[in-house]
Amino acid sequence: MAVTSPPSLPAHPDPQLDAILHGGLPHELAYAFGGPFHLLLPERFDANVAAFRAGLDEAGVIGRVYYAKKANKAAAWIERCAVNGTGVDVASLGELRQAVGQGVRGENVVVTGPAKADDLLRVAVLQDCLIAVDALDELDRVITVAGTLARPARLLLRRLPPAQSHSRFGLDDAELATALERCVDAAEAVRMEGFSFHLSGYATQPRADLAGELVELCLKARGMGLQADRISIGGGFAVDYAAAGDWERFTAVQGPDDYHTGKSFTTADFYPYHSPVAGADALRVILTARPSGSGAPLADRLREAGVMLLMEPGRALLDRAGCTVFRVQGVKDRSGYAILTVDGTSLSLSEQWFNSEYLPDPVLLTTGDRRKSGPVRACVGGATCLESDVLTWRKAAFPVRPCPGDLLVYPNTAGYQMDSNESPFHDLPLPPKAVVDEADGRIRWRLDRRPPS
Ligand SMILES: Cc1ncc(COP(=O)(O)O)c(C=O)c1O
Repeated sequence: MAVTSPPSLPAHPDPQLDAILHGGLPHELAYAFGGPFHLLLPERFDANVAAFRAGLDEAGVIGRVYYAKKANKAAAWIERCAVNGTGVDVASLGELRQAVGQGVRGENVVVTGPAKADDLLRVAVLQDCLIAVDALDELDRVITVAGTLARPARLLLRRLPPAQSHSRFGLDDAELATALERCVDAAEAVRMEGFSFHLSGYATQPRADLAGELVELCLKARGMGLQADRISIGGGFAVDYAAAGDWERFTAVQGPDDYHTGKSFTTADFYPYHSPVAGADALRVILTARPSGSGAPLADRLREAGVMLLMEPGRALLDRAGCTVFRVQGVKDRSGYAILTVDGTSLSLSEQWFNSEYLPDPVLLTTGDRRKSGPVRACVGGATCLESDVLTWRKAAFPVRPCPGDLLVYPNTAGYQMDSNESPFHDLPLPPKAVVDEADGRIRWRLDRRPPS
């Protein structure tokens, strides 16, 4: 099959992971599990948390990092949070149970999400969690729960971002004014610790702008006798999956002919797989930015006002902290390309369910010498009866023709790809997660340990 410079998007090189992938471990695990699996690298998570903390320290800003648990269900990350004193952002009672059950102290948990159920609010108050209040009726329920328990509720008031006023989350100006009055009236029942927001997208300046506004709101709330000494800027720190040049080339040349069934994608619907400013560097940029483009940088304003900076990164703490491995189960040909069928489903690659495509190139680990076969383009389908169950619509370029028994590795999948959508469809088992680390110079693995919910 002729291959004419197909669009490709290699993930950033990762020699340490390559050493693991090109050793015997993936094939051994594929044999042991008899199906797809995820590899988790908790040391990468630790390094990402440390980078965010370093960003705060460099700016001389007091702050706290809360891992947004929704990005991945594994226990491994929460274990690291418990040990390192990293906070956790939960949005359900199940997530709160997992966090506290693994040793995260309630005071290190922030509870986000809209219209939180009363049982979640009750446990949150009892555990001294910080509750990001999304609406006035929710605030009333928080005050009632706190009153019933005779225990103060620690809370933040979530701001509806003026620049994203269509959002269904947060309180607008009028609602915020009412909420502040109600917090004052609630007296001992609440500790109003500050404000929060979460913005869609990954731009840094809008985050600095809104953070600057929330600092002012803290000063106003303090004037009303409230504590108001912290703000949370939520998540949305970009992950940089691929090099700038590769991303530019990819987006410039890709078109319907590059996808199975001629499916077409708009570049704007893709995650921005290259981001010049990502992860903890995005935090650095936010801290040095001048809110609304003038005056002192955000870091100075936080320090001067005595306001602590909280953040809830999910994807960015999982950058390069995991990958997903499927076994090729079948290979057949179509005109000009092949269709690979793997032993799992696209439910383990969530991007495929958002009218988009997970673009970092899947990497082929062959079982034998295939050098004579030549390059091949292939899309990748799941082992189900659904036409739409496709892990890669793109006719991706492989250096040799894949064969049944080969492994296909999707890189950097820990952030939102692995398990947001997984279900045991067709009675296929959920892919297990193998936690990989190094001890005494040797790579070892264990199963991820999730306590029962
Ligand atoms: C309130 C809140 N905080 C944090 C996050 C995590 O965002 P990200 O994983 O993009 O950092 C989200 C994501 O939806 C969110 O809604």
